[in-house]
Amino acid sequence: MLIAIDGPAGAGKSTVARAVAGALGFTYLDTGAMYRCIALAQLRGAGDPLASRIELGPPVLLDGDDVSAEIRTPEVTARASEVAARPEVRAALVTLQRELIAAGDYVAEGRDIGTVVAPDAELKVFLTASAQERARRRAAETGADVAQVLAEQIQRDERDTTREHSPLQAAGDAVQVDTTGLQIDAVVARIVDLARADLDSRV
Ligand code: DC
Repeated sequence: MLIAIDGPAGAGKSTVARAVAGALGFTYLDTGAMYRCIALAQLRGAGDPLASRIELGPPVLLDGDDVSAEIRTPEVTARASEVAARPEVRAALVTLQRELIAAGDYVAEGRDIGTVVAPDAELKVFLTASAQERARRRAAETGADVAQVLAEQIQRDERDTTREHSPLQAAGDAVQVDTTGLQIDAVVARIVDLARADLDSRV
């Protein structure tokens, strides 16, 4: 079974996806980490960033080097949003992602899982939260200034939603959940219930 969790940065996707995977015994796939690795490879001057070897671990390894912390820096975050707009990068990573999720039960998190990577996913969830709330959460995680996080987030949201290739959008059949003001536990429980209902309906 595949559960696709898409949505903008700071909507709570990683926390929710990881917890849902843990509750159901599924494997968690952080597709954003793959785009971040390509961005870091490019920043490090790799001739062909797409030829880099990515292992999602944890820890995340780029050509064997533990980059778990480095892929979360603001510089890599900004570059990741740029490389994610490139069709050849998307094509290569989507192929890898499809290979991975074919191998078992996954909770895959990203921007285009329910729309492009796996339109047949048994359960699709689109998580959102207000821009203010998303910036507040990111700032609390990184210790950065909320106003600055918000300004950068607006730019990335704009790029992620208006890019020509696989722009961020909810699949028509996705369950939309606005996590503003919601406890993460409640969101996780709701998705786990939906997944169990789907599994039960197929036995
Ligand atoms: O989820 P994240 O912040 O780690 O994602 C990093 C960047 O990669 C972000 O700009 C969105 C992009 N991305 C994407 O375009 N498609 C995905 N499936 C996952 C991430």
